[in-house]
Formats: sequence, C-alpha cells, structure tokens
Amino acid sequence: MYSTTSNQQLTDLAASYGTPLYVYNADKISEQYQQLQTAFEGVNSRFFFACKALTNINILKHIRSLGCNIDCSSINEAHLAIRAGFDPKNILYTSNGIAFDEIETAVDLGINVNIDSLSNLEKFGKKYGHNYPVGIRLRPNILAGGNLKISTGHEKSKFGIPIEQLDQLLALVKQYNIYIAGLHIHTGSEIKDVAVFMQVADIFFDLVPHFPEIHFLDLGGGFKVPYKEEEAGTDIPLLSAKVQESLKNLAATYQRNFQVWFEPGKFLVSECGSFITQVNVLKENAAATFVGINSGFNHLIRPMFYEAYHRIRNISNPDGPIKHYAVTGNICETDTFAWDRPLNEVREGDLLVFDNAGAYGFEMGSNYNSRFLPAQVMIKNGVAFLIRKRDVLEDILRNQIELD
Ligand code: LLP
Repeated sequence: MYSTTSNQQLTDLAASYGTPLYVYNADKISEQYQQLQTAFEGVNSRFFFACKALTNINILKHIRSLGCNIDCSSINEAHLAIRAGFDPKNILYTSNGIAFDEIETAVDLGINVNIDSLSNLEKFGKKYGHNYPVGIRLRPNILAGGNLKISTGHEKSKFGIPIEQLDQLLALVKQYNIYIAGLHIHTGSEIKDVAVFMQVADIFFDLVPHFPEIHFLDLGGGFKVPYKEEEAGTDIPLLSAKVQESLKNLAATYQRNFQVWFEPGKFLVSECGSFITQVNVLKENAAATFVGINSGFNHLIRPMFYEAYHRIRNISNPDGPIKHYAVTGNICETDTFAWDRPLNEVREGDLLVFDNAGAYGFEMGSNYNSRFLPAQVMIKNGVAFLIRKRDVLEDILRNQIELD
C-alpha cells in the first residue's frame, strides 16, 4: 500500500526540487496495470485510465506505453491524450453536462464517446444518425461509493440518463437510427464491494435486448485502493471471475459476444504518489498542537472536501516518539489535513509526506491565495525526472490584463 519511493529518495528530492513537491513512481503504476492484466487475462476486457486523476503528459505517455487506453472527462483531456500519442480509437470521452460542440470535436477526432443526456443524444442523432457509434451513460439509481460527493449513480445524481427514462431514450434511438455501440454506468469512486459492479452487470443484462448493436458494456471506474493501514481494496481477481461469469451468461443468452470496459483512475495512480511538505510552524494550544505545513487545500483538497484520510509520515524523524497533532495548511481558511493524528515527534523544518497522493491531488489544486502550484517529479526505473516546474509569480499573472 505505501509509497514505493524510499524515505531517502523523498528526502533527496525535497533537497533538489524544494517543497511542496509531488512525486510519482511510474513503476508502481506499471505494477497496478499489470495486476489488472493478470487478473483479467482471457477476459474480453479493455481498460481506460480515467486521466482526470492525473494528467501530466509524462504520466499519460507512461500509461500509453503500458498498452492501457485512456478515458477523458473534458475535450481538453482528449486533446492531451492525442498529444500523449494515444490512438483515437483507444480514447474514450465520457462526458457529462457538456456543450454539444465538444461532442462534435470528439467525433472529428475519431474517439469513442459516451453521451450522458437525452438532449445531447438527440442532437447527436440529428447530426450523425447511424454514421458514428456511440455509448450511452445511464444512471442506475444505485447508491455506492466512498461518500456522497463521489457517488454518481443514485437518484439525486446529475450523471447519466436516468434508467426510468428508457422509453424516451429508445424513442430517440429509433427516430434517428442512432448507432448505440455500448452502455456505460459508473456508480462512483472507492467501490470496494464487487457486488455493486455485478448489480450494474445485471442491469446491462436486462437492457441488452433493447440495443441490438451494442458490443461493449462499460462498468466505469471506482476500484477502491487502501488509504488507511487496515483497509483492503476492491478484490480485483474476484471482480474478474464475476465479470467472466457474467460475460459467459450474456453470450449464452444472446448468442453474441460482449466486451467489458473499465475506467480506473485511483487504482492506477493513487498509490504511486507521495506529496512532500515541510513544517513551517508548531503552535501549542489547549485543543491541539498545530503543525502548520507549507501547503494547504490549494494543493491537496481531498481531506477538506471529502474528509478523506491520507496517511501522513514524518520522514525527518521516523524513530521519534509518537505524539498527537493537528496538521493544518497555510491557506487563509480552515484547511485541516488531519486532527489528532499520531505522528513521530514533529519539529519545525521536518518533512511530512502524504501517501496515496497520486490521484486527484495535484489535479484538484489551485492558485488560491495566489500561492504557487507545486512542482511534480516522476521516478521511472529508479531515475527521477522533473515533469512540472513549480509556479513562479509570472504564472499567477499570466492571463491577467493589467490596465493602466
Ligand atoms: N469514470 C467516470 C465516468 C468517472 O466519473 C470517474 C471519476 C472515474 C471513471 C474514475 O474513478 P476512480 O477509479 O478514480 O475512482 N475526486 C474524487 C474522485 C471522484 C472522481 C470523479 N469521477 C476523489 O478524490 O476521491
């Protein structure tokens, strides 16, 4: 579970590039992908990396080099994927709430598209009829996922076409003779229970007769990875076995073969990432000892936004006695990373490392308080490469138009 990058290497990188610093171990990404490949060997499946988790172009190129496909959530991500060398047929654009012109661009690029509204489906039908295969994203009304904010399949969720609107959907498909190539359901992130994926597979099973041309069934992403010491992730071999069973049933029932698609984000890149910060100030208080670090929710918002747990380690004093701390940021807001957290004794200047920082860390960062985005380093075959420079003041001013 823990960072595959050693404390010594992290300390050296902090000395070379400064902090705060994101470090990604590409070899860990390869290992995660290999786990999927091994588990799904012989299963008619394709994996698309949900790149919203981490879009640095070098990470994308590394993931392409593994033979993995890519899932995008904006047209800009699709452009990045092309730039990273992905073949358009290996790019998927799972859109939500987008303007139709992005779908037109996606078609021009020749990439796969999942459409998530009746409105865009109708526009699509009018323009392309049967000329371009398309997937449809459905909302199954299943509540799953680590917390409500990352749960996307329930009945109050904006995502997908609600399953109860199937009649309207089928009417549009018929009216415009739309080429529906696949069905898509992503119920959320951090789904540990394989049964949730199988619930979706059962829904697909019942829908197949309505869509004679579909050949892929996209179960989305959301594989859980362990964040806490005692946690387990999604049982990937079990998932594979169940999916295989389900594909066999489908083939036997409908006399044709289907391919299963997945869009893992966290599974591929969460654990590869370490976020190195440094302690600016210690502040004793009746309620807690505050450890003020040189970062904040502008760099890693998951603890504040989702109350997500990230393991924190004091790599400068790994043998120090355990004490309890409130780890807070330097943003002018309440940005608490952890409360009452046991850490090896913390001193000003120590390096605190956040684990599982690869997915949705840097990506959800911002320049709030006019602070700089951190630098990013990728380690590949043991060698470290700077893959993004730390911001400088010019970056903050870049698009501002300074009037006289
Ligand atoms: N496919 C679709 C359609 C998605 O919306 C997402 C995530 C994924 C795949 C990838 O899910 P993953 O395998 O990474 O769990 N920012 C949140 C996670 C929500 C991401 C939104 N969609 C977090 O930091 O926990």
